[in-house]
Amino acid sequence: MKILLINGPNLNLLGKREPGIYGNQTFEEYFAALQNQFSEIELSYFQSNIEGELITKIQEADDSFDGIILNAAAYTHTSIGIGDVIKAIQTPVIEVHISNTFGREEFRHQSYISPNAKGVILGFGMQSYELAIHSFLK
Ligand code: DQA
Repeated sequence: MKILLINGPNLNLLGKREPGIYGNQTFEEYFAALQNQFSEIELSYFQSNIEGELITKIQEADDSFDGIILNAAAYTHTSIGIGDVIKAIQTPVIEVHISNTFGREEFRHQSYISPNAKGVILGFGMQSYELAIHSFLK
């Protein structure tokens, strides 16, 4: 099984960005722990702050991965293009968020990803990604 984790803008700052909301761990540390925990599957990771790069990566991932776990970060709430690419591909996408976006500002309640995602996992901190991997394994 091959799973691609994709993080959107500012998630390269995890560990130092608003630790009260996003915690103290860098994504690189967490990703290494995930690779140990799920050694039976091939996990890949991509991060970009650029909307078009995220769209291109999702297009390229179609058919070469069994699943995509996507935290589109702020683009979740603004990007029709990312919403459209999820509709266009066959590979299932699970939307994840570290924070509970529904407990935050109203503009975070809107998602262009959710209508076309296989499912949505949010509010469990970094564990949101792990839960998404488990759901692909089931
Ligand atoms: C986030 C929530 C978004 O609203 C925010 O813009 C992010 C991170 C999360 O993982 O909680 O950058 O996607």
